[in-house]
Amino acid sequence: MKIGRNDPCWCGSGKKYKSCHAAFDDKIDSYKAKRIPVPSHKLIKTPEQLEGIRKAGKLNTEVLDMIAENIKAGMSTEDINVMAHNYIVEHGGIPACLGYQGFPKSICTSVNDAICHGIPSADEILKDGDIINVDVTTILDGYYADASRMFMIGEVSDEAKKLVEVTKESVDLALQEVKPWGRLGNIGAVISEHVHKHGYTVLKDIGGHGVGNDFHEDPYVCHVAKRDTGMLLVPGMVFTIEPMVNEGEEDFFVDEENDWTVYTEDGMLSAQWEYTIAVTEDGYEILTH
Ligand code: MF3
Ligand code: CO
Ligand code: CO
Repeated sequence: MKIGRNDPCWCGSGKKYKSCHAAFDDKIDSYKAKRIPVPSHKLIKTPEQLEGIRKAGKLNTEVLDMIAENIKAGMSTEDINVMAHNYIVEHGGIPACLGYQGFPKSICTSVNDAICHGIPSADEILKDGDIINVDVTTILDGYYADASRMFMIGEVSDEAKKLVEVTKESVDLALQEVKPWGRLGNIGAVISEHVHKHGYTVLKDIGGHGVGNDFHEDPYVCHVAKRDTGMLLVPGMVFTIEPMVNEGEEDFFVDEENDWTVYTEDGMLSAQWEYTIAVTEDGYEILTH
């Protein structure tokens, strides 16, 4: 149903539609007329929701900072899980992963050839030379923030270091494409170009996602894409960028025993960085910094 110009705006500001989001919607409609996929209103966060996600992001960042200070060889991935779980709960949050579609732990810890969704275990001891992705999603006052980082344990090989660096660079480069009236596909274009330039591959089938009011919302953020394709970006959208970059082939398999952990088929290393970001009036805001 079309909203009347004198009706209250759909964004909940309390203002009349005509003096709030009417011009904004007209602009979106002009892209839609050109057959560009556009976000539904549901994907556009209100200032209040953005503030909630920002706070969840702040707590999420504290968790990752705390892990950065403590992570070391000899520790188990379960030790990291416990540290993260306790920190989140003690600060009024909820670890989103715990119980999510049956996931048994509070965070994901993916070591070396594990690409993502590694399940923390007391039997998995970090050793010198390992690389590990720690992925934390925190719910605070109902809002979700999702981010991950790589940690290098002790002295790691130059090859591993390079993979971790290039993966991070690809996310930072992609941020330049996050701007209102831009296209989602440009993010994947920049990431895949950068990664391929270094001889690496990036997963197509597992990617980023809208986030904030829920753990996984639309749109799907594919890290392999062509320029000037994909959903229109508008202020108020919030999503993750989280490329999984493989040293070798893109092929992967899922652990048959736990049905979660994704590994590289060829046993080579994989790295990932994840930010939750918002599209703003003039570019982007990283909500997990
Ligand atoms: N945090 C992951 C993501 O970036 C999702 C983990 S789901 C879990 O989307 F169940 F494995 F925790
Ligand atoms: Co995510
Ligand atoms: Co995540």
